[in-house]
Amino acid sequence: MPMLLEDKVAVVTGGNSGIGRAIALALAKAGAKVVIDYIVHPEATDALIVEIERIGGHAIGVSADVGKIEDLKRLVDAAVEKFGRLDIMVNNAGIETRTSVLETSEEQYDKVLDINLKSAFFGTQFAAKQMIAQGGGGRIINITSVHEDWPMPGNTAYCLAKGGMRMLTRTAGVELAPHGIRVVGLGPGAVATPINTSTMNDPSTLAKLNSAIPLGRMAEPEEIAGVAVFLASDAASYLTATTVFADGGIMQNSVGL
Ligand code: BGC
Repeated sequence: MPMLLEDKVAVVTGGNSGIGRAIALALAKAGAKVVIDYIVHPEATDALIVEIERIGGHAIGVSADVGKIEDLKRLVDAAVEKFGRLDIMVNNAGIETRTSVLETSEEQYDKVLDINLKSAFFGTQFAAKQMIAQGGGGRIINITSVHEDWPMPGNTAYCLAKGGMRMLTRTAGVELAPHGIRVVGLGPGAVATPINTSTMNDPSTLAKLNSAIPLGRMAEPEEIAGVAVFLASDAASYLTATTVFADGGIMQNSVGL
């Protein structure tokens, strides 16, 4: 039986840590060849490539700051140069500053918007152009958040970026549907990754968070990656221009955070 994503080629931005790392590994386990970027931690990318090759997969690392358009373009081009095509684009790279609208500096604003939203916008554009040129459609997965919809006071620029990704997913999904390209958002709730280190290190904040989550705990990155593999596969062939939330039920909890 062929693997779910056999012969597919994927780019995962922010692929060497957190949710992105788990997605890169899960896509490779499902048979996809994977391109991963790095800026500051080439060794983390190297370690992931070794892990992927150990299970018989294929991956390469590219030095790229995905908030910069020319770097992002180079990342997409690397997939085509090395593996001949691009089938799956995962716009995952994300940062947050945990600052309110009163506190956020222009520098913080630009950084958060560039890495979360601008990279997803142009990642979608570059990937879609390649998918249209090669023919046969494609899949673009935007890793958003429950905060594409839900305010998170004290994390304003991040919410703004994720809200933008929500409309990117919907609008580009409609625009690209005639080309057979599906654009889907994947919205995690709280996940045990470096972005949540401060929460995980503070027992009372963590207890409060866990009690607000109907499933009673944060997600492991692999639980988000499993949904990404589904969204990248033909099992999700009728999904586009919408977001699938993997949040342990937190958005439906009227008690909230
Ligand atoms: C944010 C986390 C937050 C979680 C749940 C994520 O998108 O990055 O900081 O804990 O949403 O609110």
